[in-house]
Amino acid sequence: MKEKIATLLQEVEHFKAENAAQIEEFRIHYMGKKGVVQALFADFKEVAAEERKAMGMLLNELKNKVQEKLDAAKNEASASSQTKEHQLDLSLPAATHVGGRHPLSVVRNEINSIFARIGFSISEGPEIEDDFHNFTALNFPEEHPARDMQDTFFIRKNPDVALRTHTSSVQVRVMESGKLPIRIVAPGRVFRNEAISARAHCIFHQVEGLYIDKDVSFADLKQTLYYFAQELFGNETKTRFRPSYFPFTEPSAEMDVSCKICGGSGCNICKYSGWVEILGCGMVDPNVLEACGIDSKVYTGYAFGMGIERITMLKYQVNDLRLFFENDVRFLRQFESA
Ligand code: DAH
Repeated sequence: MKEKIATLLQEVEHFKAENAAQIEEFRIHYMGKKGVVQALFADFKEVAAEERKAMGMLLNELKNKVQEKLDAAKNEASASSQTKEHQLDLSLPAATHVGGRHPLSVVRNEINSIFARIGFSISEGPEIEDDFHNFTALNFPEEHPARDMQDTFFIRKNPDVALRTHTSSVQVRVMESGKLPIRIVAPGRVFRNEAISARAHCIFHQVEGLYIDKDVSFADLKQTLYYFAQELFGNETKTRFRPSYFPFTEPSAEMDVSCKICGGSGCNICKYSGWVEILGCGMVDPNVLEACGIDSKVYTGYAFGMGIERITMLKYQVNDLRLFFENDVRFLRQFESA
């Protein structure tokens, strides 16, 4: 029996399991009810009294060894299955879904490139502005009710600092820089203290345009914006200008385009008028030129400003502005090819 146990100890020592089935087989073979260890314990009863102690120790050694082997094999198996789960499969195809641009970025880029084709470059300015650049230089006198046209977010404790309410503030910064002539578009984010609804948001985006040179006329403005509308909405698009008021332009106008949805015959998008308003514009008021250090007797210019959300809604027939900010992938995926 002594030799038998010694051989078994050797056997157990050299056991190596390759999978869970082999571990289980090993367990049943040694520790099962009819297994090797049980059988040895049965034989143990026959062992002579003087050999019992030594034999008992040997038998326990075997039992412990088997248990040790089982524990070790199980640990190893679970560790290797974990690493397998985390192993990289480098044979898988790369990036199956690449996503796309946000619709507001698509339209902003398109507006920028339409103007770039006729010589406009891109300018940017800060989102946190002072009163001078957002209002005063743009001919909004202090305490003038025109300031109420745009509900402003002021930075607490300092009424001179606010989130810009329009990208017209970039006009001022570019004019101040002193380089003439100027032909720029300024895309950017603007902020107004307005309740959020399907048609309004407290954060939105605009593109401002500014052209300053000698002999710039209202006819130049009309032709430029006519070209822009046709590029953006298609060659059949018509434009019309209605008189309006902005403190920084004189004369001022708003431009409508013929409704793309119904072609001008009337629908609920154009409120059955056949026209939709897309921007404000006008000749830069001489007061603005002077406030920015430009001689208004030598230079004239035009400016325009449009909302990117509004134009995107018209172009893609989106009826709720909030969709642009929720970033629901089901909405965004529809623009991936744009
Ligand atoms: N800043 C105006 C607004 O936010 C838009 C605008 C109107 C800009 C007329 C202009 C302009 O440059 O000439 O409502």
